[in-house]
Amino acid sequence: MLGMIVLLVIFFLVRGMVRIKSGRSGVNIVRFNAFERFVHWMTATCFVLQALTGLNITFGKVALLPLIGPNAFSSWSLAAKYVHNYLSFPFTLGVILILFMWIGGNIPNRVDVEWLERGGGIIGDSEPPAYRFNAGQKMIYWIVVLGGAAVAITGYLLMFPFYGTTIAGMQLAQMVHGTVAVLFVAVMIAHAYIGTIGMEGAFEAMGEGTVDLNWAKEHHSLWVQEEQARTGPKQIQGQPSATPAE
Ligand code: HEM
Repeated sequence: MLGMIVLLVIFFLVRGMVRIKSGRSGVNIVRFNAFERFVHWMTATCFVLQALTGLNITFGKVALLPLIGPNAFSSWSLAAKYVHNYLSFPFTLGVILILFMWIGGNIPNRVDVEWLERGGGIIGDSEPPAYRFNAGQKMIYWIVVLGGAAVAITGYLLMFPFYGTTIAGMQLAQMVHGTVAVLFVAVMIAHAYIGTIGMEGAFEAMGEGTVDLNWAKEHHSLWVQEEQARTGPKQIQGQPSATPAE
C-alpha cells in the first residue's frame, strides 16, 4: 500500500494530470446513470470504511495503541469491529450489483490488446481506441469482482466460525482475507488517483454522471461511436454544459 502511494506520487510528479488534449467542448455525454453511481459510491464508501477498520484489526495494536492509550483504543476498536462486520453486507451487495451491471462492457476483446501494447496512451502521444471500458478499467472491474468475492467469502467464514470450517480452515481464510484485502486496497488507491487528480474530467463521470465529449473521444473513441450510432449525433451534441447568455 505504501509502495503504491510512493509510485503514484512519483508518477504524478513526472506525468502530472492527464489533460483533455483538445480542451473541453462544452458538450456533455451521459456516462453513468444515477443507479450506477449510487451502487459505485455505496460500494466505495463501504470499502474505504472496511479498509480503515480492517487495517486497525491488523496494525492497530502496533500503530495506534501507543498513540491513543488502551481506553480510547478499546472503545474505537469495538466500534470499528461493528463497522467492519456490518458494512460487509452492503459491500457484498455492491460487488454483486457491479458484477451484473457492468459485465457487458468488461469482457476482454481484441481492442484491449492494442490498448495494453500502447500502454494505455501513457507511452507515446495518442490515446489508443477503447469501448466503454478500456483494458485498464477492465482489470479494475475484475479485481473488484474477484477480489470482492474472495474477501467476502473468507470474511463470512471468519464471521461465522465453525460453520463448515475447522481451525485450520479459518487460519487459511484469515491469511487469504488479509492478503487479498491489502492488495485490493493498494489497487483501489491507484483507481482513486486516476479517478481524481490523475485525469482531468474523469471524476465528473461518477460525480454528475456525464463527461465532456472531447474527454470521451480521447479516452473511449469507440464508445462514442457506439453511442452516436445508438442515439444519433444530435442527442449527444444537444446539451451544451454552458449555455451562452441571451
Ligand atoms: C474512493 C475513491 C474512488 C474514486 C474517486 C472513484 C472514482 C471512479 C470514477 C471517476 C470512475 C469512472 C471512470 C470512467 O468514467 O471511466 C470509477 C469507476 C469504477 N469504480 Fe471507482 N472510485 C473510487 C473507489 C472505488 C472503489 C472502492 C471501488 C470498488 C471496491 C470502485 C469500483 C469501480 C469500478 C468497478 C468502476 C468501473 C471500472 C473503471 O472505471 O475502472 N471504485 N470510479
